[in-house]
Amino acid sequence: MEKSCLLPFGIFLVLLLNISASVAAPTAESVYISFLQCLKNYTSSPDQVSNIIFAQTNASFSSVLEAYIRNARFNTTSTPKPLLVVTPLEEPHIQGAVICAKNIGIQLKIRSGGHDYEGISYVSDQPFIILDMFQFRNITVDVENKVAVVQAGATLGEVYYRIWEKSKVYGFPAGLCPTVGVGGHLSGGGYGNMLRKHGLSVDHVVDAKIVDVKGRILDKEAMGEDLFWAIKGGGGASFGVILSYTVKLVLVPEVVTVFKILKSLDKNENMTELVLQWQNVAPHTDDRLFMRLLLQPVSSKVVKKTKTIRATVMALFLGGADEVVTLMGKEFPALDLSKENCTEMSWIGSVLWWANFDNATKPQALLDRNVNSANFLKRKSDYVQKPLSKVELEGIWKKMIELGKTGFVFNPYGGKMSEVSSDATPFPHRAGNLFKIQYSVNWDEPGLELDNNYTSQARILYSYMTPFVSSNPRSAFLNYRDLDIGTNSFGNNTYEEGAVYGIKYFNRNFERLVKIKTVVDPENFFRNEQSIPTQTGLDTAASESDAGKLLHLSLYWNLMVKVVWLLIFEVFI
Ligand SMILES: Cc1cc2nc3c(=O)[nH]c(=O)nc-3n(C[C@H](O)[C@H](O)[C@H](O)COP(=O)(O)OP(=O)(O)OC[C@H]3O[C@@H](n4cnc5c(N)ncnc54)[C@H](O)[C@@H]3O)c2cc1C
Ligand SMILES: *[C@@H]1O[C@H](CO)[C@@H](O)[C@H](O)[C@H]1NC(C)=O
Ligand SMILES: *[C@@H]1O[C@H](CO)[C@@H](O)[C@H](O)[C@H]1NC(C)=O
Ligand SMILES: *[C@@H]1O[C@H](CO)[C@@H](O)[C@H](O)[C@H]1NC(C)=O
Ligand SMILES: *[C@@H]1O[C@H](CO)[C@@H](O)[C@H](O)[C@H]1NC(C)=O
Ligand SMILES: *[C@@H]1O[C@H](CO)[C@@H](O)[C@H](O)[C@H]1NC(C)=O
Ligand SMILES: *[C@@H]1O[C@H](CO)[C@@H](O)[C@H](O)[C@H]1NC(C)=O
Ligand SMILES: *[C@@H]1O[C@H](CO)[C@@H](O)[C@H](O)[C@H]1NC(C)=O
Ligand SMILES: *[C@@H]1O[C@H](CO)[C@@H](O)[C@H](O)[C@H]1NC(C)=O
Ligand SMILES: *[C@@H]1O[C@H](CO)[C@@H](O)[C@H](O)[C@H]1NC(C)=O
Repeated sequence: MEKSCLLPFGIFLVLLLNISASVAAPTAESVYISFLQCLKNYTSSPDQVSNIIFAQTNASFSSVLEAYIRNARFNTTSTPKPLLVVTPLEEPHIQGAVICAKNIGIQLKIRSGGHDYEGISYVSDQPFIILDMFQFRNITVDVENKVAVVQAGATLGEVYYRIWEKSKVYGFPAGLCPTVGVGGHLSGGGYGNMLRKHGLSVDHVVDAKIVDVKGRILDKEAMGEDLFWAIKGGGGASFGVILSYTVKLVLVPEVVTVFKILKSLDKNENMTELVLQWQNVAPHTDDRLFMRLLLQPVSSKVVKKTKTIRATVMALFLGGADEVVTLMGKEFPALDLSKENCTEMSWIGSVLWWANFDNATKPQALLDRNVNSANFLKRKSDYVQKPLSKVELEGIWKKMIELGKTGFVFNPYGGKMSEVSSDATPFPHRAGNLFKIQYSVNWDEPGLELDNNYTSQARILYSYMTPFVSSNPRSAFLNYRDLDIGTNSFGNNTYEEGAVYGIKYFNRNFERLVKIKTVVDPENFFRNEQSIPTQTGLDTAASESDAGKLLHLSLYWNLMVKVVWLLIFEVFI
């Protein structure tokens, strides 16, 4: 019985595979050919073009695609794959890629460092091409003028290293993971452990270069104040391809101090008291001090086979150890900070410390693009505007233990963050916010069941937190991309749909982003699952070129052929 069932099913599979290969291949192939032909017209060295386009049939396709996948959830066989990966080496390749993708009528996804938490720089449920910026990674540091020109495909680690190489007195305020890409990070705001002293990365952007929907290269002057404002936190991918940002460097002291203090709920360490005090100190203390608080459910060492909560305070102080120990003794007794808990080091040393390298690691490690072993992860975000009470915290500990795996990262605001007005950049979460919450769950094993379990526990915790966080809107941080808070549907990129997530990410700045989008990309070519809609919500499909319509038609046709074959075989079996 089993055997007789297996045989026809095997044949059916073989046939189905053959059919999809023989029918789908010409489509990917024809996109490859038309894209290649088109792109050749937009470069002075047409022969080079075939070296920067990776078709699905190319032996290197998977390795090129996977090189910048930083969330294993989007690295499975069922993850939709791009028809092509294009890896530009010079500006005309990018100008051409925009024009050619538009001509062919195919969606273009832009990827710099690939750290998008939802993978939207390299995944789509519509046919798409990836414009992969990893070769655009030049960094020019001009110490005399205190600026650096940083290409979008550079990593933050490379930025820190190149600054340090030239000068020991300057640094740059940006994220803590060295492999994060400049293109997504800066266009989405960008924050790190100097945000209380220096604000966001985008608070230091003084110029930028972008390729617009017409394939033009525009700098700040040519793009105008509106577009320049939009790409400082509104997300680059709604507006064009960012080539580079010019940023102002910030002064860093010769000696900085780091410390890490751990307390556990199940030990008699007053952990809840620590968290209560943290809320009153971390957002208000000296702006040279950034104290991140991590809260994680962990296995108890006190009561076997139970879970407890561990609190970790990780800090950077832009000054010496004595000063911060004295300050904390006065302001934050529950921390119990002593000089032995502190390590003094250079600023670049602190960059390595925050990235979890051991203390013997040389700064060259920041140039390594492959240090992250990417696991499976889900992130969400919230903003807290009034301190949580003891009773509320105790309820949260209980819920976290019950769920078992999802943790929190509390990032304190205040300082410079409260001094910049909420419409200075698209990023609106300034004065009035005590701290930002990141919901964080990581796991190592593939499988849909685990995926569902862990992502839903993050959602349950998010739902539990509703009374304690910002509301109307319930704010979220664009760089902590979370498709749960709303997406637009392809071919129906309406204003109403966009407002659902747009107002959470940008609050009142959403309206200005829509106006700018409507002017610079009225046909909504630069789009993704959470892009800024145009005012009229103009549908791209309606303005698609004939080639694009043909492509979609042929994809539907393939699908129909498969369905028909499936039906025929079911009848046979
Ligand atoms: C391990 C890890 C640590 C992180 N730590 C921090 C942190 O400390 N602080 C913080 O603020 N964030 C942090 N993030 C979030 C990170 O800043 C965002 O995911 C950011 O968007 C990543 O940029 P990317 O270029 O690497 O990502 P990508 O996935 O390449 O791009 C992200 C988005 O930007 C668009 N985009 C990318 N390049 C361009 C371009 N050249 N032009 C136009 N659009 C472009 C993409 O299309 C996509 O929509 C972290 C993420 C991870 C995975
Ligand atoms: C590219 O250039 C050739 C001639 O050099 C022209 O025939 C062709 O139409 C152009 N193709 C595109 C897509 O621009
Ligand atoms: C794969 O693509 C690269 C880049 O376009 C190209 O240089 C290479 O020749 C291709 N290899 C094969 C086997 O097609
Ligand atoms: C993606 O999958 C490939 C092959 O299964 C594997 O070699 C690679 O390490 C994976 N990368 C990530 C980031 O999960
Ligand atoms: C990076 O700089 C080098 C040396 O100046 C130059 O040859 C190369 O074209 C630049 N790359 C890009 C993508 O701008
Ligand atoms: C901090 O220093 C004290 C000694 O002053 C020590 O007992 C304690 O274990 C240290 N804490 C951490 C987290 O290292
Ligand atoms: C916890 O707090 C109580 C009351 O403030 C205090 O008496 C006790 O010493 C603290 N315990 C620890 C381990 O700090
Ligand atoms: C570096 O780490 C090692 C091992 O953890 C430790 O013994 C050593 O004291 C550390 N050095 C400094 C300068 O902190
Ligand atoms: C996750 O799995 C565990 C163990 O199977 C189960 O008890 C729990 O209810 C699941 N949680 C969610 C949120 O699905
Ligand atoms: C398109 O968006 C509108 C407004 O949000 C909604 O009412 C409609 O159902 C959507 N249509 C599709 C096909 O998703």
